Formats: sequence, C-alpha cells, structure tokens
Amino acid sequence: MSPCLDRYAVAGNPVAHSRSPAIHALFAAQTAQPVDYGRLLCPLDAFAATVRAFAAEGAKGCNVTVPFKFEAFELATRRSQRAELAQAANTLRFDPEAQGGWLADNTDGVGLVRDITVNAGVPLQGRRVLLLGAGGASAGVLGPLIEQGPREIVVANRTVDKAQALVDRHAAWASQHGVVLRASSLTSPGEGFDVFINGTAASLSGSGVPVGPEVLSPGGLALDMMYGQAAQPFMDWARAHGATPRDGLGMLVEQAAEAFALWRGVRPDTAPVLARLRAEIDAPASGASA
Ligand code: ATR
Repeated sequence: MSPCLDRYAVAGNPVAHSRSPAIHALFAAQTAQPVDYGRLLCPLDAFAATVRAFAAEGAKGCNVTVPFKFEAFELATRRSQRAELAQAANTLRFDPEAQGGWLADNTDGVGLVRDITVNAGVPLQGRRVLLLGAGGASAGVLGPLIEQGPREIVVANRTVDKAQALVDRHAAWASQHGVVLRASSLTSPGEGFDVFINGTAASLSGSGVPVGPEVLSPGGLALDMMYGQAAQPFMDWARAHGATPRDGLGMLVEQAAEAFALWRGVRPDTAPVLARLRAEIDAPASGASA
C-alpha cells in the first residue's frame, strides 16, 4: 500500500465475505481519490480496541457491519441525526479531537431510499409501506423511510415489543413528516402494501417469508435487504405472488456511496458499480448479505 493513500476498512466479524472493499475500490478509481479500503476483522470482545488501533495507525474512517453497529454508535463523540434515530452506526469518520472527534453516521437508510426511489424508480411519498423486522437492519432504515413522506409505515415483527419500541422512538419524526406509523405482529400486519421491505434475518435461517402474500400488491415492490443466494427464496416468493422483487444489492452500493461522500466530499456514480456487481452476483457462487 502506498503511504500516500488514505486508509479505510470495513470493520466486522465476519468480514471475509464483504463486497465493500471491491465497491470502494471502484469508487476510488472512478473519482481518482487516493483511497485504500481493506477489511478489519474485529474480535467479538475487542471492537473498540481494534478500531482505535486502526485509527492510531493513521486511518481516516471505517464502515461497520454486523455485529458492531450499536457499539460503533457508542464509540463516537458526534452522531448524525439519522444515526441517533437508528441508535446504530455503519460509518465512522476519525476526525481529530480538534475537529470534534469521531463522527458516527448511518448511511443504510438513505442507501435503501435511493435504491427504491432512484434505481427502482418507485416513489415512496403517499405510499403504504410494510417494514418487516425490528432489529438493527430495520432500525437503520426507518428514519430515512419516514423522511420520504409515505402515507403509512407498519413495522411488523415476531417480537411485537421490539417493533413497538422502534415505532415509539420514531413517533415524533413520523408526526413531523405526516406519516402514520404503527407496530404490528406478524399475524395481522395489514394487506396490499405498495412497498414491502424485508429487514429480518428469516432469509438467512431458511425459514421462509414469515408473513402471508396478502401483504403484497400486484406490481408492488418487494425488497429484501439481503442479496445473492440468501435473498432468492424471498425474490421467488414475491414474484410468484405478482409483486416486483428486488434484492439488497442496490442498497449496499448506495449506502457505500453515501459513506464515500461523507469521507471524501465526492459522490461517486453508483450505476456502473451496481451493474458490475450485479453481473458478478448473477454469475454462479454469489454472496450472502449486506
Ligand atoms: P439485524 O441486525 O440483521 O437486523 P437482529 O438485530 O438480530 O439482526 O434482528 C433480526 C430480525 O429478524 C429481528 O426482527 C428478528 O425478530 P425478533 O426481534 O422477534 O427476534 C427477525 N427474525 C429473525 N429470524 C426470524 C424468523 N425466523 N422469523 C421471523 N423473524 C425473524
């Protein structure tokens, strides 16, 4: 690695599968930014120490993936509003103390919104949205979804209390944007949603989609935040029931672009990067999750 390059990495456990280094390498080449982006495997009990050591070596920032997004949020001295809403961060910028210290952001939600509204061309304003799951993935996207001004968002989860807690935390934000926001069990989330987003880990466990097809609407968007093999059962299910399936690959590229812009002040063009990843994913032996 050249000493002239600014260092970044994706921090997580595991990280070997991550496509973030490839995505950021393409962004760096496209924008001619001096960026070296690698992988930072953090022991489960030593996320903070590992990331601090990386920063002490002169690194400029990192993305954060499972299972450290909540710890990353705690580690920063400053947090973006969307990170505050999520109570989780997927991006850290190692600003020096004199500039206020480390900044935590969460670019997952804006990445999802951009993939839906720009890449898929589906407006969210005035629509009815079902968000399945109330874990870290859903927490990361709910604030930016609300910001789009859909008519209604239902957060449905196996453990209803978790969905209710997420809804309660976003209640003021929802009323500010004129959005009806409510929590639901998996048994009665409602029917005919324009946009259905799966933020559960159900695809990974192979247990199938945990709600009935009545949640879909003909031609409506059904998006799984996973991609590759992990998203396939959801995509097949959505298509079989007349919805338009979409995986999480666009969200993955868009959240990366937002992080890149935060670090470098330059926004890469995501379309060629997404097209290239799509071609790789469609080839045999694809990846698992964002
Ligand atoms: P992540 O950070 O990826 O969101 P998480 O915080 O562990 O991971 O959350 C996983 C989400 O998937 C939760 O909403 C979980 O439901 P519970 O809150 O009830 O645990 C949901 N989930 C996982 N496996 C599921 C399954 N087989 N059926 C339905 N929901 C499932």
